[in-house]
Amino acid sequence: MRTTIGAATAALLASTPALAAYNLVKEYSGQDFFSGWDFYGNYDNLTSGDVNWVDQTNATQSKLAYVNDAGHAIIKVDNTTFVPYNYKRDSVRITSQDYFPVGTVLVFDATHLPYGCSVWPSFWTKGENWPIGGEIDIIEAVNLMTYNQMALHTQDGCTQPSSVTQSGTTGNTNCSTDAGCTVAEKQSNSFGESFASAGGGVWAAQFDSSGIFIWFWTRDSVPSSVSSASDSIDTSSWGTPSAAYPSSSCNISEFFTPQQLVIDITLCGNWAGEASVYSSTGCGTGDASVNASSCYLDNVINAGTKYDDAYFEISYIKAFSTSSPLVASASGGSTIYVSATASASGSASSSGSSGSSGSGTNAAVPKTQLDALAYVAFAGTTALAAFSWVFL
Ligand SMILES: *[C@@H]1O[C@H](CO)[C@@H](O)[C@H](O)[C@H]1NC(C)=O
Ligand SMILES: *[C@@H]1O[C@H](CO)[C@@H](O)[C@H](O)[C@H]1NC(C)=O
Ligand SMILES: *[C@@H]1O[C@H](CO)[C@@H](O)[C@H](O)[C@H]1NC(C)=O
Ligand SMILES: *[C@@H]1O[C@H](CO)[C@@H](O)[C@H](O)[C@H]1NC(C)=O
Ligand SMILES: *[C@@H]1O[C@H](CO)[C@@H](O)[C@H](O)[C@H]1NC(C)=O
Ligand SMILES: *[C@@H]1O[C@H](CO)[C@@H](O)[C@H](O)[C@H]1NC(C)=O
Repeated sequence: MRTTIGAATAALLASTPALAAYNLVKEYSGQDFFSGWDFYGNYDNLTSGDVNWVDQTNATQSKLAYVNDAGHAIIKVDNTTFVPYNYKRDSVRITSQDYFPVGTVLVFDATHLPYGCSVWPSFWTKGENWPIGGEIDIIEAVNLMTYNQMALHTQDGCTQPSSVTQSGTTGNTNCSTDAGCTVAEKQSNSFGESFASAGGGVWAAQFDSSGIFIWFWTRDSVPSSVSSASDSIDTSSWGTPSAAYPSSSCNISEFFTPQQLVIDITLCGNWAGEASVYSSTGCGTGDASVNASSCYLDNVINAGTKYDDAYFEISYIKAFSTSSPLVASASGGSTIYVSATASASGSASSSGSSGSSGSGTNAAVPKTQLDALAYVAFAGTTALAAFSWVFL
């Protein structure tokens, strides 16, 4: 048995990452990577992006989600289909069936992240009743940004202290604003072409009663306590995190329910596609005529040649925890969480690299009416509505 930290210890450690032992409870890797996820199967009605997030069948057939010969998971935007004006492009959004409670360390190892003009990828977590159950953005950036931006999104009452021990740069301390409480990575090679050319890197996110702490290591700096962690992981030697949200100004168990993992790529939408964002993150620069349609018109339509770099290549995701993963189920209008290990895993794994044509599926989703619908739907959710970031 491992020990969970007691309330007194947690209080003592309130402003520093907790010293706790976490045991491996879930690993997504190799040929089984895609077991235990749900595919969205609907156009992007969350962030008004110009994508159709395909279902698992289409993702497998079109090779938008598969395991490559290196045994890494590829999650990508369709770069093989000609998309006519007014239509959306196929992409992928997946959510884990398991929920991870407070007392979990997530480790994400990738060799490539999606980037390019209009591309908006993220690896993040959320509660069942998002945006109410909190959100942790571990990896998120748009267009040709050169660094990763981390954030929390919560209901009102959670902030980042004005003075905090972290290596990143705080953009906003109030986690209930539309932007969330953002921290920009300051280490090099955390996004884009430089992330890939450095051989990728690893993130670890500690979701703990003492706070939420996110570390990033470029490939040649990954500590062996991370790269060789198998049955358990120990955060105590990792030093200053990139982003720190101690519980001293955010009661973690009050603002965060158990979190499920999300990996998605959208195009344009409420962040990447904003004219001011698009033109200030390396796209359409020098073109005074950049407008709200530029992101879509300049990239999404026609051949998919803009999207050759719009893919995740993920070595593994591991969850280490002081308790078992949970699955959410409805009970009398509210959500309860039951042990995931006690219930059978229901999902088929992907067919791997064999068989499909790779010719892509034009989902034939008209863009115009759907954007109007999405806008109305989106007005009800503010967690991702607007973003700010810091230029380093
Ligand atoms: C899957 O592909 C079929 C055939 O192209 C299409 O009709 C359907 O809308 C697609 N479904 C999704 C969720 O993308
Ligand atoms: C945080 O932002 C929310 C939403 O804008 C606002 O209502 C709240 O007063 C802010 N809290 C603090 C501490 O500034
Ligand atoms: C934090 O929130 C939990 C759950 O709402 C509550 O039980 C606990 O008393 C709170 N802790 C503090 C220090 O306010
Ligand atoms: C917006 O900019 C694009 C080029 O990025 C251009 O093709 C289009 O005509 C512009 N639209 C308007 C309404 O100005
Ligand atoms: C699509 O992108 C992949 C890399 O992600 C590349 O290998 C492939 O050649 C591209 N396909 C086309 C048709 O350009
Ligand atoms: C998005 O579409 C899905 C599938 O139709 C639906 O279940 C969900 O409620 C929609 N979400 C929003 C915010 O409109």
